[in-house]
Amino acid sequence: MKHSDDIPSALAQELHQLKWILSSLHMKGIEGWPTRFRAGCAPTPAAGETVCTGASERLSLDAIRRELGDCRRCRLHQGRTHLVFGEGSAAPGLVFVGEGPGFDEDRLGRPFVGRAGKLLDKMIRSIGLERDQVYICNVVKCRPPDNRTPEADEIQTCSPFLLQQLAALQPRVICALGACAAQTLLGTGSAVSRLRGKVHSWRGIPLIVTFHPAYLLRNPSQKSGTWQDLLLVHRILHPT
Ligand code: URA
Repeated sequence: MKHSDDIPSALAQELHQLKWILSSLHMKGIEGWPTRFRAGCAPTPAAGETVCTGASERLSLDAIRRELGDCRRCRLHQGRTHLVFGEGSAAPGLVFVGEGPGFDEDRLGRPFVGRAGKLLDKMIRSIGLERDQVYICNVVKCRPPDNRTPEADEIQTCSPFLLQQLAALQPRVICALGACAAQTLLGTGSAVSRLRGKVHSWRGIPLIVTFHPAYLLRNPSQKSGTWQDLLLVHRILHPT
């Protein structure tokens, strides 16, 4: 198993993500913050809310959803029927990250419920899990017109919410489905074919890249590579 989380690339990835977070705060009009932070300054969770364990600055999933609100931060809101936040276990071992909602997802407000979703369900079952045992979300939360790839500024605006979701969930493994998710999380422009087959790291959490199920529907010959990637995921979840 190759590990690609050497210090320079991990640092570059952290800096890339920090840049996005800062620029999204800037777009909200936040240009600085108090020079002194109080420990435990996270919002008090409402009764019954899923509180994420660990650092006090981590928001709960519910708080992240509230912060997203009726989002109009980028042009993608104009064509949406439903914002698709994500769904699944609140304490998952595994999180799948896709690109963005398609037609069916936009209609129902749920991730991966169309043809690609049916294949993702099979992928999940192939490693002995059920859909409700994992968490599934996307880089952008609103459907791009005609299912086009999200633009860089749309990703930049929306991805801080994805990063917050991952930080809240703290899974044991993240599986990036396709180039958009992989490149966003790893801060790279490399192709999936170069990124798959090894263990990367997102803020210390193992991250596996594989082909997007929609791509596999068009290119079934690549399925064998994806099953290998899923075996890698399984091995991390169940070390011998
Ligand atoms: N493709 C994605 O990337 N995400 C979905 O939710 C559905 C299809």
